[in-house]
Amino acid sequence: MFPEYRPRRLRKNQAIRDLVRETTLTTDDFIYPLFLCEGKNIKQEIKSMPGVYRFSLDIALEDIKEAIELGIKAILLFGIPDQKNNIGTSAFLKEGIIQRALRTIKNKFPDLIVITDVCLCEYTSHGHCGILHKTRGGKVEIDNDETLEVIAKVALSHAEAGADIVAPSGMMDGMVARIREALDEAGYTETAIMSYTVKYCSSFYGPFREAADSAPKFGDRRSYQMDPGNFIEAFREATLDIQEGADIIMVKPAMPYLDVIRMLRDNFYHPIAAYQVSGEYAMIKAASQLNYLDEDRVILESLQAIKRAGADLIISYFAKKAAQLLKR
Ligand code: PBG
Repeated sequence: MFPEYRPRRLRKNQAIRDLVRETTLTTDDFIYPLFLCEGKNIKQEIKSMPGVYRFSLDIALEDIKEAIELGIKAILLFGIPDQKNNIGTSAFLKEGIIQRALRTIKNKFPDLIVITDVCLCEYTSHGHCGILHKTRGGKVEIDNDETLEVIAKVALSHAEAGADIVAPSGMMDGMVARIREALDEAGYTETAIMSYTVKYCSSFYGPFREAADSAPKFGDRRSYQMDPGNFIEAFREATLDIQEGADIIMVKPAMPYLDVIRMLRDNFYHPIAAYQVSGEYAMIKAASQLNYLDEDRVILESLQAIKRAGADLIISYFAKKAAQLLKR
């Protein structure tokens, strides 16, 4: 006979549960995303994301200060420019919204890790993540390689303005290699790349597109983002991004794709980021407002699940709230 194993011995009280817990969430894990718009004194709530705002830079600085006081060490910036055009020129201007914000934020908070989204969808009038071109058959497509030249310029302009990490999110083939080359050539060998390696073509991005005014004006993103039915393809994407020089690889969205996070954790040795996206935030908020869920507990449980699946870094609109909850 085996001696009787009683798992409950280790669940008896909080102290013993704390001792044997495998996954402990900390504020060090979080990256806090922010939407920046032009102008002054602007704090405009996003309808489908209560508690998330578009900030003008002056107000954003106050919010960032609060985040730092809560122990948050990294932020991710999205720009909402006033000017958009066909090729997203405002994404790489020296006086662009993100470039100005970077200089100010890094000057004010030098220890804060500032990560920037490198994509064109907020800057193009058509809302796609790349440059469009007409095929001979008259179809409109994204020109992958032409897009690479523009996003390399965007990434370089962010590095020049002080970004610690650039995060290309457009899912263009070869984007990491092209950005690495551009950064290295200009001497920014220390600027890291966090690649949106496995970005699914997901309906969970809906609220973000309202926030960032980046919904495609026609069609969808299926020709560049990953098919939600695919798993092995994530392995291929990760292999490529790592070969191309990505420092951190990302899975997005997070909760619906925990299996993918775990697969990457088990097969690759790079830090893995997971993005708890706008739709995940909106679901938790909406259900909590209806009193269907206990918001505070669900926030922490969702983030813990993402970490347990294997994420080292978690991008979440709940970052500040979660940091507060962890202090209790
Ligand atoms: C842009 C980008 C998107 C998100 C982050 N970067 C949207 C998209 O692909 O349409 C989504 C983030 C979120 O939903 O919170 N390339």
